Amino acid sequence: MSEPARAPTFRSAVVPAAGLGTRFLPATKTVPKELLPVIATPGIEMVAAEAAEAGAQQLLIVTSPGKDAIAAHFADSSELEAELKARGKDSLVQKVRRAHDLIDVRTVTQDEPKGLGHAVGCAREAIGPDEEAFAVLLPDDLVLPTGVLTKMAAVRERHGGSVLCAFDVPRSEISAYGVFTVSDTDDDDVKQVHGMVEKPAPEEAPSTLAAAGRYLLDRAIFDALDRITPGSGGELQLTDAVALLISEGHPVHVVVHRGGRHDLGNPGGYVRAYVDFALDDPDYGPDLRAWLAARLNG
Ligand code: UTP
Repeated sequence: MSEPARAPTFRSAVVPAAGLGTRFLPATKTVPKELLPVIATPGIEMVAAEAAEAGAQQLLIVTSPGKDAIAAHFADSSELEAELKARGKDSLVQKVRRAHDLIDVRTVTQDEPKGLGHAVGCAREAIGPDEEAFAVLLPDDLVLPTGVLTKMAAVRERHGGSVLCAFDVPRSEISAYGVFTVSDTDDDDVKQVHGMVEKPAPEEAPSTLAAAGRYLLDRAIFDALDRITPGSGGELQLTDAVALLISEGHPVHVVVHRGGRHDLGNPGGYVRAYVDFALDDPDYGPDLRAWLAARLNG
């Protein structure tokens, strides 16, 4: 007899994409940062695929009034597909359809960029009252290989509460990140979180575990978001709401992801990601490798 299917720990994945993308100006005057491609696939499509792979059934994209192109990327594209078919470009049809077929997409609007915490709060009404937890994926953060959300869901099943994702980074680089104060559990890759500090000096960092853009949040976060006050720049910080929950005894754990990561949110990280993916690409990799070698020796 086959095992009964287990209810997935979360049904909705929230993708905040309403920021200003100032680090990518002037491109982001008109092109949402989340649609910038790595090779030919926008970062937000990669993250949608990751959410679908982890079992999410609906993707709630938080957008702002000027960023309609994001929803359009996931909309039905049958006209373009018919045109491609008529031209005999069948392999492109699959690529074009993919975003629409991956997962059900809904958008919610954040009228003003009042911070990540505020953006997550905008998804509140779109998450069913029966959903005890939901995922949040930052579309400018590629966590590789995919699969960490599945591990995070298993940690919530075991410990309850909320589960975040961390990377172990060299102490000399830690000042660029939000850093967790943790204690061990019986699993080397899972730590209990007691607090978080933003961008500490290396000698003051409570650990070398840096926050990554993946969250599995208990719906108690919405109530916590209502009770925190805006921080610098008038923005509501998601980490402040998580800190409030921790102070009230809500269990928070991190899964330490032993893999790679790309920050697509700034031009330097984006170039790295692009080159990394291009080097592995069967069409572009060999040529790029030869060109880079010559360029570096030139
Ligand atoms: P970032 O801080 O990386 O994005 O937020 P940003 O604010 O657009 O970029 P810069 O700093 O101005 O260059 C991480 C994610 O959260 C979303 C962003 O769109 C990005 O995908 N975000 C941020 C919102 O949805 N709303 C906000 O108010 C802030």
